[in-house]
Amino acid sequence: MNILIVDDDRTNLFIMAAIVRRLDDAEPVTMESPLDAVEWLRGNEPDLILLDQMMPDMDGIELLRHIRDDARLDTVPVVMITANTAVDIRVRALDEGCSDFLTKPVVVPEVQARLRNLLALRHSRALLRDRAALLAAEVERVTAALQRQGEELVNRLSRAAEYRDPETGAHIERMALYSKLVAEAAGCGGAFAQELMKAAPMHDIGKIAIPDMILLKPGRLSPEEMTVMRQHAAIGHRILADSPIPLLRLAAEIALSHHEKFDGSGYPNGLAGSDIPLSGRIVAIADVFDALTSTRPYKRSWKLEEARAYMVEHRGRHFDPALLDAFLSRWEDVCRIHHENAEELSELAPEAVHH
Ligand SMILES: [Fe+2]
Ligand SMILES: [Fe+2]
Repeated sequence: MNILIVDDDRTNLFIMAAIVRRLDDAEPVTMESPLDAVEWLRGNEPDLILLDQMMPDMDGIELLRHIRDDARLDTVPVVMITANTAVDIRVRALDEGCSDFLTKPVVVPEVQARLRNLLALRHSRALLRDRAALLAAEVERVTAALQRQGEELVNRLSRAAEYRDPETGAHIERMALYSKLVAEAAGCGGAFAQELMKAAPMHDIGKIAIPDMILLKPGRLSPEEMTVMRQHAAIGHRILADSPIPLLRLAAEIALSHHEKFDGSGYPNGLAGSDIPLSGRIVAIADVFDALTSTRPYKRSWKLEEARAYMVEHRGRHFDPALLDAFLSRWEDVCRIHHENAEELSELAPEAVHH
């Protein structure tokens, strides 16, 4: 441990340095001038500072104030050596953050005992600080790992679903980007928009439980088949719900609510307005818009302007008006996302989308 000793009297300096050397594991750094000490402290952090109170140029109190102004030296104990027994000096020194006093002429065993105590305190404080920093770093590492695991799990689930889902990977990608765009345009905050983008790809995960003859049927579904098909919302929710991973909980909410309509005519619960979770209202816009503008083997893709007209026509019916306005306010970005993530028809599941 380094102990800085500042005293204009060379004899005192010599005596104090000798006392310090006799402590275990302590090295004195001696300075005759407080100004030199200020300079030295700019680049060094001692473990303890011993200051003479009466010095020319800058007295002990002033030097103490300098030290306490430096946040870096916050936890370094400072001991004032004073011949002056006046109480007001001691009070001022304490006010300025002095840790302890020694009175001249010094008594060697007393000096040693006080320095040992303060160094022990300093040592345990440093240990605590290191421990706290270590723990904080560890918590951060584990949290990031959990987050990554959540995302990994989501990607794997989505990949598994792709083998059965007639919707292509490009659709998944675009609707996730549209969802993020709407969330941002509606002022939901960047963190939510990011989470939404990661969770949205699982909106149709429940389709893995729908029989092939319905899921892959090329034509229109009969009312009975439609009833079965619509179960994908509740099934998706059941697959994802109650997870300790927040991303999966959001995905569960989306799976359940992405076919609800703003006027209450959607499924599975016929929720209306703000009873539909925000995530579901946003994903509904992204999902339908992309289904309309996607090419499918059985249908041409709608032109962007045609799809836009359809969306506007269903404003307040299918879609949350404020969110749809947010979506349309970023029309250039919508077009960019559409063109930059062009369709590559999946060989795995070339069939229809049933919304
Ligand atoms: Fe769906
Ligand atoms: Fe979809």
